[in-house]
Amino acid sequence: MTTDDPLLKWRDEFPILETCHYLISNSLGAMPRGVYDRLKHYADTWAEQGVSAWGSAWFELNRVVSDKIAPLMGAPAGSVIIHQNASIANSILFSALDFSDTRRNKVVITDMDFPGDIYTLKAWLPSHITLHMVKTRDGITINTEDILNAIDERTRLVSISHVLFRSAYIMPVAEIIHKAHQVGAQVVLNGYHSVGVIPVDVTTLNVDFYIGGVLKWLCGGPGGVFLYVRPDLLNTLMPKVTGWFAHQQPFAFDVENFVLRDDIYRLMNGTPGIASLHAIQPGVEIIAQVSVDHIRQKSIRQTQLLIDLADQYGYPVVSPRDSAVRGGTVTLNPPHSYAVSREMLARNIKIDYRANAGIRIAPHFYNSDEEVHTAVTTIADILADGSWRRHLDGRDFVT
Ligand SMILES: Cc1ncc(COP(=O)(O)O)c(C=O)c1O
Repeated sequence: MTTDDPLLKWRDEFPILETCHYLISNSLGAMPRGVYDRLKHYADTWAEQGVSAWGSAWFELNRVVSDKIAPLMGAPAGSVIIHQNASIANSILFSALDFSDTRRNKVVITDMDFPGDIYTLKAWLPSHITLHMVKTRDGITINTEDILNAIDERTRLVSISHVLFRSAYIMPVAEIIHKAHQVGAQVVLNGYHSVGVIPVDVTTLNVDFYIGGVLKWLCGGPGGVFLYVRPDLLNTLMPKVTGWFAHQQPFAFDVENFVLRDDIYRLMNGTPGIASLHAIQPGVEIIAQVSVDHIRQKSIRQTQLLIDLADQYGYPVVSPRDSAVRGGTVTLNPPHSYAVSREMLARNIKIDYRANAGIRIAPHFYNSDEEVHTAVTTIADILADGSWRRHLDGRDFVT
């Protein structure tokens, strides 16, 4: 165990670290111990207050929790709202944008974006809009000139990831946003792999919209995705995915008039999932206490360690070598990657595999250098002893 790493003191807060090598925070961050208490608090409130809980706490809870997440991305209070997942957050946003200017008939995306973003875009775009997909040249990055050149006066929206989920490449989003705004387009970034592991400041970036999730680097569990809207744009949004919580007077139960709220609840729909709003909080609070700057420093060191070890063994690295453009994950593509990844899971080393990429290894602030080391030496052991052959079932999918 590394002893001179001050962040390791947080390990006790995450029970799963006692049972395995948990190197998969890019998929699902470890559960903080504090979640037990928060969920008990939720159950106690429900049991003791019943319906009165809406007035005492629950109606405002989305706002309260969103305002805890906002500082982690440089967003002002009141500019963030939580929804269940990115697909619904995307749908709300895309349904709310004005696509009526037929001269702007293009949305720019990349082939390294998360497919769910593209599926929802396709579902919402009017027929006069075409998707312009910028393709990766190397399977790791998107060439900056390629994307900047794709953004022109015909562009209505640029919808891309801040950090690419396969390779952890950090996109040059400041340049992209600048170019988009120059030509009159808006930008939505998917920040699932950025907030909590790299510093993000949506205000300095001047990005229009930003969507991220708490379940990975923020250790907030499934059911928490945050949607940031630049404050001056909020009232331009006219969501079609909506509901009574977005009404200025939800409890007037007015069936004739639907007047959208002027605050961030404009982007609500119906009754929110209150349990996950409780579970989200311990992780978000811990990340704020640890500080993203400290997390980033350690992450750069441990991702570099992974790359150095991979180089020693000769395993191809499918992530940027330059730490300035590398997020929190390193993807390695040793021989028989998929089968090797299954055997790593069997040996209690939690990592994941992505098709067209390889084995993703994602240390977080609570991981020791020894765990990182073991992940790579275990790949070597598995290849040497042939145990990967046990997993030759021809499957090529995720978990
Ligand atoms: C970049 C990215 N976006 C989105 C998601 C998940 O989307 P949703 O919240 O709709 O399930 C993931 C999940 O792994 C992801 O990596």
